[in-house]
Parts: sequence; structure tokens; C-alpha cells
Amino acid sequence: MTKRTPFIAGNWKMNLDHLQAIALIQKLSWTLSDADHDFSKVEVCVFPPFTDLRSAQTLIEAEKFELKLGAQDLSKHDSGAFTGEVSGAFLSKLGVGYVLIGHSERRQYHAETDEVVRDKVAAAWRHNLVPVICVGETLEELETEGQSAVPVRQTLAALAGHETLGEFVIAYEPVWAIGTGKVATPAEAEAVTKAIRASLKESFGDEVAQSRILYGGSVKANNVAGFLASGEVDGVLVGGASLDAEEFAGIARLQKHIVL
Ligand code: PGA
Repeated sequence: MTKRTPFIAGNWKMNLDHLQAIALIQKLSWTLSDADHDFSKVEVCVFPPFTDLRSAQTLIEAEKFELKLGAQDLSKHDSGAFTGEVSGAFLSKLGVGYVLIGHSERRQYHAETDEVVRDKVAAAWRHNLVPVICVGETLEELETEGQSAVPVRQTLAALAGHETLGEFVIAYEPVWAIGTGKVATPAEAEAVTKAIRASLKESFGDEVAQSRILYGGSVKANNVAGFLASGEVDGVLVGGASLDAEEFAGIARLQKHIVL
């Protein structure tokens, strides 16, 4: 089995203006370089709001930080009369490499259906962005359908109907664990990750099944190691704890807690 590079993603959500973004990125990068963090062993990516991206890009390039840059969303269209939307083309130009798609907050508050998610995945690939496709079940779905059914269904829906597949990352985030302090157990995260991987293998073959699958939902420095320990979960998508440089650096330094 090929060894997948762990991916630590910080989803800032609608927090921090561009000046605060500069301060956080500086502190995070210095904290990690002081700790001799090896970015080739554990990839670290921040997902600030759109308005912070240009400042973040300038800083990362000027200081030669190894931190990766991501966006929280993109339009399914490339350009045109879509007021308020942001094209993948613009994100690419800003040095953005990854884009979150179908986060549960967008599915819930912005009516993003599986179809919209799939179209946005296609848009990401058209602009050389790696989509981080977020999937996960609500508490109600957990009770009626069990834990894996919805994440597997959402994963396959996002990847259906494309002529060819580009690189992608799946982020399994149980909706009931996001921002609630309720965390899935490592065993639960592992079971769902395995189910997603098995469905990728069945539908698309071995190579696609080697895509990275992350866990997200109330991840902190003190619980990250449990999720990565089995080798099934390839990283974490972190919300609240990514706004604190020390805490997020602690999460990124997970190799200090476990042998990878
Ligand atoms: P949380 O958010 O870490 O604050 O639970 C995770 C996410 O929404 O990506």
C-alpha cells in the first residue's frame, strides 16, 4: 500500500479579517518552523475567508512558508453574471491549491445539494484545484441510516458523472460533531473511513481508493493522535481549534505523538 501523506486542514470559517489572517499565519509558520516541522511528512493547509487570500498568498510567498493555501468554497461557473460568486480561476491565480466543497454548513444554510457539490468538484478540477469534499451524516440520519450510509452516498454522488477523476480529498465530518465538542470515537471515524474507501475501490478501483480521507469534528491537539493511529484516517479538518496558532500547530505536530 502506498503511504499517504497526512493532511492537516484548518477551516477558519467566517472568522479573521486579512490583518488577523497575516498575524495567525505568521505565528503558525514560526511555531511550526521552531519545532522543525517537516511539511513533506505532514502537509498543513489553511482555509481563510476569500478576502484574506491575497494577503495570505503574498505573505506565504514572500516568507517562503511551506504552508498550503485553500479556499472555503468556489462557484460552479468559471465567469459571468453570477453576482457575489468566486471563480476557481481567480483562486488558482492566488496560489490556492485546495478548496472545501460541500461543507455541512453550506449544505445546511446554502442549500447545496449533491448535484451542486458535483458541479463544484468539476469546476475545481477545471482550474487545477484539489477539492476537499466534505461528507457526513446528521444526528437524525445517524439514527435512521447508521453512520456510513450518508457519507458513502455523498462521496459517490460528488464523484459521479465526471469523464475522468482528478485528485481529491474526502473529509468525513459527522454533522453532530461539528463545533459541538462531541467527537466521534477513533473507532467510529475508522469504520466510516473504511466504508468510504471500500466504496471508492468498488466504483473506481485501487488507485482512486488511495485518495486521502480525513476526519473532522471537534478535533484538538489532545485527541488528534487517536484518529491517525490506525493508519486509516489520513488527516483532520479542523474548525475552531485552527484559529489558535499554538493549538493548530499542536495538531499538525501529530507525529510527535504517534509513529507514522
Ligand atoms: P470544528 O469544525 O473543528 O469546530 O468542530 C470542523 C469543521 O466544520 O470543519
